[in-house]
Amino acid sequence: MEMGLPLFYALSILLYLASVAFAENTSPALCSSKFNTKCNSNSSSLHLTLYHPRNPRSPASISDVPISTILSHDEARVKSLALRFSKIPSSRPTSLDRHFDTKSVSDPLTPGGSVGLGNYVTQVGIGTPATSYVMVVDTGSSLSWMQCRPCTVSCHAQVGTVFNPKSSNTYRAITCSATECTSLRSATLNPSACSSNVCIYQASYGDSSFSVGYLSKDTLSLGSHFAFPNFTYGCGQDNEGLFGKSAGLIGLARNKLSLLSQLAPKLGYAFSYCLPTTKSTGFLSIGSYNNPAGFSYTPLVSSSLDDALYFLKLAYISVAGKPIAVPASAYGSIPTIIDSGTVITRLQSDVYTALSKAFLATMRGHKRADAYSILDTCFKGKVASTAVAAVALVFDGGATMKLRPENIMISLNNGKLTCLAFAPATSVSIIGNTQQQTFKVVYDVAGKRLGFAASGCR
Ligand SMILES: *[C@@H]1O[C@H](CO)[C@@H](O)[C@H](O)[C@H]1NC(C)=O
Ligand SMILES: *[C@@H]1O[C@H](CO)[C@@H](O)[C@H](O)[C@H]1NC(C)=O
Repeated sequence: MEMGLPLFYALSILLYLASVAFAENTSPALCSSKFNTKCNSNSSSLHLTLYHPRNPRSPASISDVPISTILSHDEARVKSLALRFSKIPSSRPTSLDRHFDTKSVSDPLTPGGSVGLGNYVTQVGIGTPATSYVMVVDTGSSLSWMQCRPCTVSCHAQVGTVFNPKSSNTYRAITCSATECTSLRSATLNPSACSSNVCIYQASYGDSSFSVGYLSKDTLSLGSHFAFPNFTYGCGQDNEGLFGKSAGLIGLARNKLSLLSQLAPKLGYAFSYCLPTTKSTGFLSIGSYNNPAGFSYTPLVSSSLDDALYFLKLAYISVAGKPIAVPASAYGSIPTIIDSGTVITRLQSDVYTALSKAFLATMRGHKRADAYSILDTCFKGKVASTAVAAVALVFDGGATMKLRPENIMISLNNGKLTCLAFAPATSVSIIGNTQQQTFKVVYDVAGKRLGFAASGCR
């Protein structure tokens, strides 16, 4: 869908927008009871309600998307992470040259990671007066962006109205010489561009979703009491791909343009979350966590592969209390990250094979079923949670996730099939969100450690 607005026209609108205070279409209110947003900003950290993307009560539910689609997008996300590590640019042509008057950009886009369909959603406010938007939350991305009027090229369907910079009297477009503009390459892994001295960002994702638009600043509101002026984000004029019905994306990776890094001086360089199931709600809390009781910690390690992602070390996995039969060196033979947007945990292939074997040995009474998508340790029918063996992920330093049956197996095809929710990987192990569900996870970036605690969504 290309509208082909002449660029100078789009820009003059933007410049006009930047200078005019014109409030219209405000609301829904930030702490809307309709969206059940908790507005508790009592401490140095902030609690936002987090929804599973397939929770029918999520403000941007994708509960109608079949699980097979979710799994194939999950595989695209994992592939794009692998590509990102190998620094191979994607061959997809940029939309920039077609739609913006840019001369310098000829590099192909590098996939920043797939947005996929596994990302949890929350709500944040942008602009003055603040309007609330549904955003996906992604620990695998840095730059935050949202769809933005006039949607010069394309906006996908979203819940609520598309952000209109015109209705915010604190909106500003960022110029090309600003440091935020020169930082874009490390934040998006793509070059920035310049059009009539407005900085243009390009965020691209491995599932060929992307957002291109004006790098901007405006006031970000989290909950009802916290407002952060001059938050840097992308005002997306060309937004294509599968983002559910969300308005955009919040980047929680470690690059300095991420929401986390921008808010760190005010709230602390840390965040925590509890990823809920499809039936409950959880939270995202930005800032230092001041109730660390019950957490066990593992070091966050740095990797030359990518300085924005969260690397850790998996020490071993146990099934029914016994470490699985694989040499310890197998765990470290490829890097391991923790990721909020990958649905199924990926393990180095020997580790996966050993896990599958050990798990199968505990399921002797159950009939094997054929593989389903990326899942190959499957059983016919439903499996009672009491029949699921204990599985624990133990990290360097002893931090342990004692998984619940719901973190171990997923029920598919209306209960006709139940599969072990792990899959093999070749270049990166990923602790995915099915396994993290209902754990409290704290990313203490300043303290270079990551903590887990059970029963976190209450
Ligand atoms: C906020 O803190 C005050 C005092 O510490 C406490 O009484 C109140 O219950 C807290 N509110 C919330 C929503 O946690
Ligand atoms: C935000 O940016 C504006 C314009 O550059 C500036 O006047 C203002 O002081 C900034 N506010 C804060 C809190 O940094």
